[in-house]
Amino acid sequence: MKESSGSQVYDIKVINRKVNNMTKPILRIQNLHKKFGSSEVLKGLNLTVDEGEVVVIIGPSGTGKSTLLRCINRLETPDSGEIYLEDQKIEHGKTNLSRMRQKIGMVFQDFNLFNHLTAIQNVAIGPVKVKKIDKAKAMKAAERELERVGLKDKANSYPAELSGGQKQRVAIARALAMEPKVMLFDEPTSALDPELTGEVLAVMKDLAKAGMTMVVVSHEMGFAREAAHRIVFLEDGIVSEMGSPEKIFNNPEKQRTREFISKITSLSGEGSA
Ligand SMILES: Nc1ncnc2c1ncn2[C@@H]1O[C@H](COP(=O)(O)OP(=O)(O)O)[C@@H](O)[C@H]1O
Ligand SMILES: [Mg+2]
Repeated sequence: MKESSGSQVYDIKVINRKVNNMTKPILRIQNLHKKFGSSEVLKGLNLTVDEGEVVVIIGPSGTGKSTLLRCINRLETPDSGEIYLEDQKIEHGKTNLSRMRQKIGMVFQDFNLFNHLTAIQNVAIGPVKVKKIDKAKAMKAAERELERVGLKDKANSYPAELSGGQKQRVAIARALAMEPKVMLFDEPTSALDPELTGEVLAVMKDLAKAGMTMVVVSHEMGFAREAAHRIVFLEDGIVSEMGSPEKIFNNPEKQRTREFISKITSLSGEGSA
């Protein structure tokens, strides 16, 4: 993506959010700490995400990006700190955990589909089992979600019959079927062959345009420039620097951010997404 058109897209994003008055915090992470054994991965991390905002998290490998996402939907239990979704605290061991989790969709690097279920069954199973929605209704809704990710014609295919890009799109449809308030993506295209990343990123861009709140761990620079409202650089267990894509990619304040950006830019080749 060329610089000029990138800025234009960004302007439209800002205007859309202003028109829609979407500056209400929806996810608040406060002073989050997480250790594995003696190694402290998250060291008092703070991050607030607004409704309708697309936040792209970047940072070196092993810096705690996955741990952060896993703490948000409680696949990991934080040692201390608070996470609020729509002003409700997410807590372990409380009856609200299952309800809170339903509001958070997660898409993993390796899809995590049920291999013995078809695409449409993968999408419908959450609403049926967790939300106790009538099966026929859930299948109808699943069909709509598959259509949204461009896979209506693959509804009856098993994961083994799908490409990596198609599997990831089914995984996105499955998360959307739960009607989440926030979608978390953990390097959703990094297990894919380069020619398949585009179709997944296109679905994610559509979601972003539709106003979904998204927290995306990804080093796809094209996607980040085009779809992100904010880039967050995670390092040493905290948010080291954040700002608009323009600021972080073109004019970061910290030397470390600058070094990291130049590294991922040379690895990915600008505009590859
Ligand atoms: N379940 C776990 N048990 C022990 N160590 C873990 C576990 N999960 C992550 N870690 C460690 O925590 C650090 C951060 O991991 P991770 O959040 O996956 O980083 P990133 O996603 O930024 O690459 C790494 O050193 C990793 O080895
Ligand atoms: Mg990770």
